[in-house]
Amino acid sequence: MTSKITGPKELELPNFHKRKRKSTLDEKVADTAKMELNEVPAADLKNKKIKKGIVDESQVSVEKMASKKFEGWRIKLEGTVCGHVKFIPRVDEIFKRHVTVDIQIPKPQQGRHIGRYALQKAVVASGCSLFVAHLRKSNIASKKVLLAAGFKEVVFPLGNQLCMSFKK
Ligand SMILES: CC(C)(COP(=O)(O)OP(=O)(O)OC[C@H]1O[C@@H](n2cnc3c(N)ncnc32)[C@H](O)[C@@H]1OP(=O)(O)O)[C@@H](O)C(=O)NCCC(=O)NCCS
Repeated sequence: MTSKITGPKELELPNFHKRKRKSTLDEKVADTAKMELNEVPAADLKNKKIKKGIVDESQVSVEKMASKKFEGWRIKLEGTVCGHVKFIPRVDEIFKRHVTVDIQIPKPQQGRHIGRYALQKAVVASGCSLFVAHLRKSNIASKKVLLAAGFKEVVFPLGNQLCMSFKK
């Protein structure tokens, strides 16, 4: 009698991965921690609410840009870029040599006092000494920011915009 030669049979392993295992004490502790972590979204929401509000001065910083045409400062909110302040050199008959102020904050971040803190910090860090801003009379936000940074309204006979200046 001849027996049929077959290849080695595949070793059948017990299906361990399908078997439900009782969780250890360590795993139970980890599960509890995960449940606690699941509460984070609610805290996140709370944080987002805070983030939409007025910022603290310490959250705003300025970092110098590399430009030869103007003195530029990147505005950072907790390390993330959030607009710029530029001091652009000008000469005119009234102020002679000075810099004009250009400040921009992205729309969703406006009204949180980032602008005023950034301008104050940029003026302090700046190598310029006479700062002038020309703005539309309706630009209340800019006027408030400039006033907070110590700028004063001045009479500027050339043009009908509001003019404010600050001397270090
Ligand atoms: C002007 C600008 C830089 C101000 O930055 P900001 O971070 O929004 O300013 P702040 O939050 O520090 O202050 C703005 C103030 O104006 C108020 N404000 C904003 N828009 C206003 C409006 N349309 N009318 C009245 N008040 C307004 C804010 O409520 C805030 O008032 P508060 O001091 O009572 O809280 C920013 O709004 C911006 O980038 N605007 C567009 C570009 C521009 O106009 N640049 C100026 C060129 S010099």
